[in-house]
Amino acid sequence: MSELAIKGGPPVRTKPFPEWPIYDECEERALLEVLRSRKWWYGEKVREFEEKFASYQDARFGITTTSGTTALQVALTAAGIGAGDEVIVPPYTFVATASAVLTVNAIPVFVDIDRDTLNLDPDAVRKAITDKTKAIIPVHFAGYPADMDELGDIAREHDLVVIEDACHAWGTDYKGRKVGAIGDMGVFSFQVSKNMTSSEGGIILTDDEELADLCRSYSNCGRGKDKPWYEHYLLGGNYRMTEFQAAILLCQLRRLDDQVTRRMESARVLDDGLGKIEGIELLQQEPKGKRRSYHLYCFRYVPERFGGVSRDKFIEALNAEGIPASPGYPFPLYRNPLFGRKGEGPKYCPLSCPYYGKEMDYTKVCCSNAEQACREMVWLPQNVLLGTEEDMEDIVRAVRKLREHAGELKD
Ligand SMILES: Cc1ncc(COP(=O)(O)O)c(C=O)c1O
Repeated sequence: MSELAIKGGPPVRTKPFPEWPIYDECEERALLEVLRSRKWWYGEKVREFEEKFASYQDARFGITTTSGTTALQVALTAAGIGAGDEVIVPPYTFVATASAVLTVNAIPVFVDIDRDTLNLDPDAVRKAITDKTKAIIPVHFAGYPADMDELGDIAREHDLVVIEDACHAWGTDYKGRKVGAIGDMGVFSFQVSKNMTSSEGGIILTDDEELADLCRSYSNCGRGKDKPWYEHYLLGGNYRMTEFQAAILLCQLRRLDDQVTRRMESARVLDDGLGKIEGIELLQQEPKGKRRSYHLYCFRYVPERFGGVSRDKFIEALNAEGIPASPGYPFPLYRNPLFGRKGEGPKYCPLSCPYYGKEMDYTKVCCSNAEQACREMVWLPQNVLLGTEEDMEDIVRAVRKLREHAGELKD
């Protein structure tokens, strides 16, 4: 019988990795406290969390929302992005990075990622700028910071707004400063898979008081700062976080820094072990001393150098060995049916919007590094990285085992 678990052999591990989400008496007490106080609505806990999270991420202001998606929408609205504007986004990301742009009636322009970081490639960004470009949304993918210096230079040269999509990057720093308010604004998600969570939730960070006030108003029914509750100044929505969510997040924030350290230590063990296996390529390594959230641990799988075993088969075999790896995004975001929609008449803004005056045809977009990443990446989720050093060694052992038995895995 083969030694491979996929062929009936004993798996490398049967023990589960740490469960997610994590909670303890802190969340239990905090939830009961809010419940019993009967103060359930957008109050002290929300304010406390906004201040503490903003300060943790080196930002002056924090404005909570219902999700990372609504945080992006509010930030774009506050930045004045609207009909006829182009916004540069990467194609290797969750749908919201681009769909939020459509929601405010603007046009997402997909620009390729750098092969070694999976983040927006500044050279490609430069080439994509037109007279309609108004903003850039760099994603700090998997928690690796985007090239904020280069993107900042481009933004200054062309008078563009930078909104960081930091929905993978709680605790990540860039050259000694945490991400989120390095650009004009930054948004974070607290959805249940995220490294800190209240099931759903989001926040916008900024150092700019005027933008902070606009975000507050747009996320709270267009109300004015220190104005009566029935006075509405802007076309806002109700994107308010509850006191229950903020109470949970205050507990999650207390654990975050230690968890960031743990994940970084795990990533180092994985880098050391996986980096030595033929057919596995690591992404760009962190300069020493940098903090990175590791929402995902990603590596590149090159079938031709792994005995010709397809990535799907590799992942299936890895799963059978007890390692919860996945292929991640199956194709770049622009190939989603959402972006193929057309011909819905002149009323269909933004893609057929008369303000735009141009045609955007996403079927013609091809970002080769993003395409390649979708074919080659393997992801491990953040909770796996909360395991012990031995747990990480199991992952390395499992990949090594597949490499040694690659001949048995060929389709
Ligand atoms: C990169 C990125 N941006 C935005 C979002 C949207 O966050 P939410 O799910 O809280 O709306 C996500 C969530 O998965 C994300 O991964």
